[in-house]
Amino acid sequence: MSKLSRKATVLNAKVVELLQKQVEMEAHASATYLAMSSWCDAHGFTKSAAFFLEHSSEERGHMLKIFHFLNENGVRAFSPEVKNIQQEYKGLRDVYEKTLEHEIAVTDAINAIVKLARKEDDFASENFLQWFVEEQLEEERLVRDILAMFEFVNEKESIFALKLIDERIPLEN
Ligand SMILES: [Fe+2]
Ligand SMILES: [Fe+2]
Repeated sequence: MSKLSRKATVLNAKVVELLQKQVEMEAHASATYLAMSSWCDAHGFTKSAAFFLEHSSEERGHMLKIFHFLNENGVRAFSPEVKNIQQEYKGLRDVYEKTLEHEIAVTDAINAIVKLARKEDDFASENFLQWFVEEQLEEERLVRDILAMFEFVNEKESIFALKLIDERIPLEN
């Protein structure tokens, strides 16, 4: 009996705390990409608007993945509060630079949880997080490739050049 009632989850409490925070971070990313999509739409960058719309849903998917992992393993996941979403950007390059900054921050956060899971012998969480480690590699690579296109654009960033970049933004669908 004592063994059964010992705890409701095999997950480590400290790791769970970080996973709850990660739910929030993914939700924040989703809302941020939605704001970026709107900004791009308003400024005539239609492929970028579609790109950020897709990525907003992807981030929601990431959020739900962690959310379900917690709930399925006896932890009550919290619905995240999403605040402080940046709505204004200096230009298209700024949007993608902020995206890379965001993705790097997420990679660091994921790595920190993996590190803690390892330290606390929470193998279930460590194993679960491997998908996110892979995903972050992909996400960072994708945004870096887009930013590389801006290197061919001069300081003035003519609208023509920016439109050419926008046309080359890769979409999933
Ligand atoms: Fe994500
Ligand atoms: Fe992401």
